[in-house]
Amino acid sequence: MSYEVSPTVKGEKVDFTNPNQKFYEALGYDGMQKLMYSFYDKIYESEIAHFFPQDEEEFAEVKRKNTKFFIEICGGPKIYAEETGGMELNEFMVRLHDDFSIYEKSRYEWLGVMEEALKEVDIAQELKDDFWDYLEKFSKLTVNTFSGGSKFYPKL
Ligand code: HEM
Repeated sequence: MSYEVSPTVKGEKVDFTNPNQKFYEALGYDGMQKLMYSFYDKIYESEIAHFFPQDEEEFAEVKRKNTKFFIEICGGPKIYAEETGGMELNEFMVRLHDDFSIYEKSRYEWLGVMEEALKEVDIAQELKDDFWDYLEKFSKLTVNTFSGGSKFYPKL
């Protein structure tokens, strides 16, 4: 079954593999850009829109950088590396997301939006499944906020 999501378990080691280069090759630079721009347009209609910049120019910058990251992580040209100051790409991404309080619910929303964007793309499903496998696993590392309830009312 495509687009399955398993829950994040706090403290559990996450093993993931970068996406197959064939995903990038099938889409090409323009296809990848189209996918990521469509993804971000949907993000702005989603429940996690408030996480992202509301200023149009800043939003455009996030779209551009996001496209570069995904092209590079899929084995395309190394066009994001200059942003990381020499740090490995995925490690850099985990740190970048640490600036935001991301709950499991936000991860499900993010993945749901990505699923919608991926369904618009006309390439082999097995390539999308491979890309999804990376996203589903790696996204667990962006979850950094767990609901432990209130110390006055721990059941919350
Ligand atoms: C597979 C998982 C994910 C990947 C690979 C990913 C990747 C990225 C990339 C490449 C950027 C742009 C980085 C830059 O500005 O240089 C970004 C920014 C961001 N992502 Fe993610 N992301 C993931 C999951 C999530 C999730 C689950 C959330 C939940 C809300 C999230 C929230 C954000 C926010 C708030 C920004 C920054 C916006 C800003 O610069 O103000 N991301 N992400």
